[in-house]
Amino acid sequence: MLAKYLKRAILAAFYIGFSHWSSTALAQNAEASNLYKRGLASTCANCHGTDGKGVVDGGMPLINNLTSEQMLTQLKAFKSGAREGTIMPQLAKGYSDEQLVTIANQLGKK
Ligand code: HEC
Repeated sequence: MLAKYLKRAILAAFYIGFSHWSSTALAQNAEASNLYKRGLASTCANCHGTDGKGVVDGGMPLINNLTSEQMLTQLKAFKSGAREGTIMPQLAKGYSDEQLVTIANQLGKK
């Protein structure tokens, strides 16, 4: 009798503990994923400004007028060499295609 209750109690504790643990892990994953995306995109702010406004006088174009799709097209063109540039070709080559998608989604005009 006691053993039966004990077994149930242990199972319940395990179940509650596990579901709590897994939802916390999911929340942490989402947070880490957001940080990762923002981290990738923050590199661009050095030249294009925090909100993509650019420093047009300094030859740094504004990029906050581009949609994610337009931005991705330009980034891929820089990477493939289809579009020339001083800085962007080298920079774009440093990212995987997947990372370029993430960056364009993060920075593109919503
Ligand atoms: C070191 C400065 C610098 C950094 C960092 C930088 N850019 Fe650029 N970006 C430029 C310059 C300069 C140009 C003009 C093209 C060229 O000369 O390479 C440009 C052009 C662009 C263009 C084309 C804009 C248009 O009007 O067609 C896009 C899109 C772009 N950058 C996106 C990005 C993204 C996304 C990042 C971050 C991964 C980034 N840039 C990081 C300097 C920079």
